[in-house]
Amino acid sequence: MRHFITTADLTRESALGLFRLAADLKQGWKAGKRTVPLAARTLALIFEKPSLRTRVTFEVGIVQLGGRAVYLQGSEIGLGTRESVPDVARNLSRWVDGIAARVHAHATVETMARVATIPVINALSDFEHPCQALADFFTLWERGVDFTRTTVAWIGDGNNVCHSVILLGAMLGAKVRVACPPGFEPDPAVQAEVSRLGPSLLVTEDPREAATGADVLYTDVWISMGQEAERERRLEAFGRYQVNETIVGFARPNALVMHCLPAHRGEEVTDAVLDGPQSIVLDQAENRLHAQKAVILQLLGGGADDA
Ligand code: CP
Ligand code: NVA
Repeated sequence: MRHFITTADLTRESALGLFRLAADLKQGWKAGKRTVPLAARTLALIFEKPSLRTRVTFEVGIVQLGGRAVYLQGSEIGLGTRESVPDVARNLSRWVDGIAARVHAHATVETMARVATIPVINALSDFEHPCQALADFFTLWERGVDFTRTTVAWIGDGNNVCHSVILLGAMLGAKVRVACPPGFEPDPAVQAEVSRLGPSLLVTEDPREAATGADVLYTDVWISMGQEAERERRLEAFGRYQVNETIVGFARPNALVMHCLPAHRGEEVTDAVLDGPQSIVLDQAENRLHAQKAVILQLLGGGADDA
C-alpha cells in the first residue's frame, strides 16, 4: 500500500495485518512502551472541513510515534484556489513525509495521491472515509467478532462512511444490509463492488427488514458536512430511519450499535441507544488513534518492523 485513499487500497490480508499492528501499538502504548519509530518524521494535515476525532487522532498518533503534525486549513492554504491541488501536493512532497487530507471532493485526494511523491491518506472525502472503516472493523476484530458469521446493517444515508463500511465489511466476509430512503442509496458502483467482494448485499427501504437478526447496526448523520442546505428535505426523507430502541429490538440480542460520530442526537440515533449498553461508539473513536497509527507507521515507516 502506497497511499490510503479508499478501502480498495486494502486487501483482506492487509487489513488484518493492520489490525494486528494496531493491536500491538495499542497494547504497547497502554503498557508504557514509548518507542519513536517515526522520530523527526512529519505529517501534513489538510482539512477543508471541521473535525474532532480525525484531527486529534492523526496529531496525537504521529506524536506518539515520535513525529510531528503540521495542521493546514484548506482555506488558509487556498487548496485549489490560491494554488492548484497538484502544486500543493508537489510542494508538500519536498518538505514532509506524508499527507492526510480531509476534502470535499474525492477527486482532490485522488489527484494528490497521483502527483505526490509521499504517501497520501484520505481523512474523509465526499465518497469514502477509509480510516473510519478501518478503525471500526479493528474494533470488532479486537472483540473477537468472526466477520464471516456477521451481518452488518447500515441504517440511514448511503454516504461516505457507508461506502467505506460496507466495502470493508464485504471484503472481510460480512453480510451487508443497507436501509435507506429512495434516492439516498449507496453509489451503484459501490453496491456492485460490495456484491462482488462479499457474501451478500441487501438494499432495502425498510429499516426493520435490514435490522432483523443483524449483529451490528451502524448509522451516521443524515446531513453530512457540506449538505446543510438540504437539511429540511433530508429530515423529512430520513424520519423513519432513526436507530432507536424499537429498531435495536429487531436486531440480535446484544447486537452492537456503531456510529462514526459526531452524532446528531434525536435525529439518526436516540440518547438511549447511543449511551446504552450495546453502543460501542467510544471504542470506535478510541480506535481511530490506534488504527491510524498503524496506517501512518506502515506508510511512513515501512511497516511492522518499525513498531
Ligand atoms: N468520525 C470522524 O471522522 O469524526 P470527525 O469528523 O470529528 O473527525
Ligand atoms: N458522513 C459524515 C461523517 C462525519 C465523520 C460527514 O461526511 O459529515
